Amino acid sequence: MASSRASSLLLVFVAVYGVVSGGQAPTLKLNDGRLIPAVALGTGRGTSPEHADVSEVRTAVRVALEAGYRQVDTAAIYGDETEVGQGISDFLASGTAGRGDIFVTTKLWNDRHAKDQVVPALRESLKRLGLDYVDLYLIHFPLAFNADDTPANIDYLETWQGMEEARRLGLAKSIGVSNFNQQQLERLLANSQTKPVVNEIEVNPTLTQQPLVKYCQDNDIVVMAYSPFGFLVTRDAEHSPPPHLDDPQLLAMANKYNKTVPQISLRYLAQRGLVPIPKSVTKKRIEQNIDIFDFQLTFEEMCQIDAFNKDIRVIDIPDWQNHPDYPFKKSL
Ligand SMILES: NC(=O)c1ccc[n+]([C@@H]2O[C@H](COP(=O)([O-])OP(=O)(O)OC[C@H]3O[C@@H](n4cnc5c(N)ncnc54)[C@H](OP(=O)(O)O)[C@@H]3O)[C@@H](O)[C@H]2O)c1
Ligand SMILES: *[C@@H]1O[C@H](CO)[C@@H](O)[C@H](O)[C@H]1NC(C)=O
Repeated sequence: MASSRASSLLLVFVAVYGVVSGGQAPTLKLNDGRLIPAVALGTGRGTSPEHADVSEVRTAVRVALEAGYRQVDTAAIYGDETEVGQGISDFLASGTAGRGDIFVTTKLWNDRHAKDQVVPALRESLKRLGLDYVDLYLIHFPLAFNADDTPANIDYLETWQGMEEARRLGLAKSIGVSNFNQQQLERLLANSQTKPVVNEIEVNPTLTQQPLVKYCQDNDIVVMAYSPFGFLVTRDAEHSPPPHLDDPQLLAMANKYNKTVPQISLRYLAQRGLVPIPKSVTKKRIEQNIDIFDFQLTFEEMCQIDAFNKDIRVIDIPDWQNHPDYPFKKSL
């Protein structure tokens, strides 16, 4: 059963992308008719504290756009929208592309969930970005908090109405969500006028998310995959399950295709029809991370990577687990 699912996804993928040469990402179609570039540069630095310095973001964004990226992923909470905007502006100044060629995604933080707070929060993000619209605005988490960090009694259905208003005003061309579980998506779909175009969630070899990805794809919601390297790259060593960069199965694939293990992970995600969001501030890696469209993993290789799944998250926020809208499985 797993194999027929993977093989039909592979067929969908081949139909959508074919094999194109490296360096520029193809696009996927959103349920509102717009196109989304198939890879985004991640700019959130929360999980790589050794590189938490916001000053690196401006250059990283310009270098990524020069390397062929056409999507940048940021958020109000990252504190780097100003630098993201500067990087975009540096790139546009070269005259090789226009604003319309670039897809900018940002997110609403948990302390602005009241319906009438959404548009003002987006206007503040736009001001920092130096843009008059974003391509995609996401509810960052389905949980509302007060300014003092206590849970706020605001339903994400209400927040969504604020998102719809942002879209009506043209401040966000498309709207979506992040970190929503299946139940929360079902409830949103049943109780709103506008379907989210995207659910941005963690997906990587140790958190393959088969059921939630299937639900999203069955409902024409594109999955953006954050922390796409999972524990391949160095995280808190104590909580770092395999596989790592020296995994023999992944190394065999990397050698076979003349790619690196991180590229294999990104290709695995893209080949499932997901939009990976690799974060890097290192030029060589930024370039490497988009060079994943000129080869194809076999069905067996896709299954080998599926089998690494351990349902362990890089991003787990146990401090929030008593919130009624906590989206992840509670630990004890
Ligand atoms: N919606 C959400 O709730 C949410 C949550 C988490 C993340 N995100 C988004 O997803 C993005 C990515 O997630 P993440 O930052 O957690 O993790 P990630 O992209 O999986 O990993 C980033 C780490 O991998 C390193 N790296 C990048 N490319 C590499 C390569 N080719 N070879 C070896 N190492 C490489 C980076 O180092 P260097 O930078 O030093 O090169 C950095 O330390 C974030 O930046 C953010 O935009 C969203
Ligand atoms: C392998 O990849 C590297 C880096 O992309 C490239 O420089 C080299 O030419 C490739 N080798 C072969 C045999 O394709």
